[in-house]
Amino acid sequence: MLKFAIGGAPNEFDVWEELAGEFERKTGIKVDLLHQSTDTDQRRQSLIIPLEARRSDPDIFLMDVAWLGQFAASDWLEPLDRHVRKGNIDVGSFFEKVVNGADRFEGQLMALPVYVDGGLLYFREDLLSRYGYSQPPQTWGELEEIAGHVQEKQRKTNPDFYGFVWQGAQYEGLICNFIEYAASNNGGIRFSEDRIILDSKENLEALEFMVGLIHGSMVSPPNTFTEMKEEEARSFFQRGKALFERNWPYAWSLHQSEESEIRGRIGAAALPHFESGTSVSTLGGWHVGISVFSDKKDNAAQLMKYILSYETQKKLALRLGWNPGRKDVYQDTEVLARMPHLAQLRGVFENAVSRPNLPYYTRLSEVLQKYINAALAGKLTPKKALTEVEREAQKIVERYSSP
Ligand code: GLC
Repeated sequence: MLKFAIGGAPNEFDVWEELAGEFERKTGIKVDLLHQSTDTDQRRQSLIIPLEARRSDPDIFLMDVAWLGQFAASDWLEPLDRHVRKGNIDVGSFFEKVVNGADRFEGQLMALPVYVDGGLLYFREDLLSRYGYSQPPQTWGELEEIAGHVQEKQRKTNPDFYGFVWQGAQYEGLICNFIEYAASNNGGIRFSEDRIILDSKENLEALEFMVGLIHGSMVSPPNTFTEMKEEEARSFFQRGKALFERNWPYAWSLHQSEESEIRGRIGAAALPHFESGTSVSTLGGWHVGISVFSDKKDNAAQLMKYILSYETQKKLALRLGWNPGRKDVYQDTEVLARMPHLAQLRGVFENAVSRPNLPYYTRLSEVLQKYINAALAGKLTPKKALTEVEREAQKIVERYSSP
């Protein structure tokens, strides 16, 4: 039996069950789904354990674009070129920028994108128009102002209401959020020759703004830095308790589902930016790869082919609101009719900013998570957090890049 490791929001499991059933009917190959958590860092840890022990299970798994570099550099992935040729998978149908930037390692194809992600701003259309706003905010300053105003009004009838929810807990999602603020202020995680640059004026403004949302204008709840991950922010917004939410595209179909309290009352837009910058989304997404230790590589390759087929990618888009890794599905009339925001937000994904594609990115990210979160918690000033994180990150860069 083929073991396939999946994770994510609970509704994803049902869809994978169905797909596994269909795959078995078509090929006779049984698939055992291994359920992982929703948190990307925990998903990575639970894959590393069997891979480091060179176990043959799981045979095939989904990987966050953020840790593909580490997996490829650790020699845990089966090179796919042979399987792609044998299975007639047309690599040209997938986003070249994503495949070339994330899936190839030292010239070999190691994975392919199941879906691509980018941060979006979800907003309550009904509340914006009730309070006289004709469109979602373009700048972060506008967002904070509108959030403050609507929060104050709404609290009269909805005491737990907040203006804006986003991912501030200490985990990978925080870095995705940080990059969006920083890069939309012309900052970000930069390298200059062999130095990493984090302690910049642009990053400082961005981090001060994030801290201000929680402790200054208080439009973001105090548990932003202790608890808020994707699912916490999604359910908060979905219970009608916030005006704005930063989340990935998967939240759309859940917000619009029958159980949602805000169904039909929301919109999605590009994230705001600082006055001198432009809107930026962090490029996220999940890729499929085969374990180099698997003893069922040919069957795994068949499952990979099935997951990446037009029909399956279309189903995943319709059922889960995922943005397919394949380009051709974006032209599908049914997909466009059900997900009108996809066409409208195409630019968001095309201009998304990648996290540094380094084998040791996850080490860098852990350090960033610690310091950015400490600033959000008020334990370190933003300036001190950036000075310290740059110093610590530089040591990692030197340790990993020295021959
Ligand atoms: C989403 C993105 C992934 C990112 C993660 C952070 O799953 O697709 O790339 O690392 O969120 O929480």
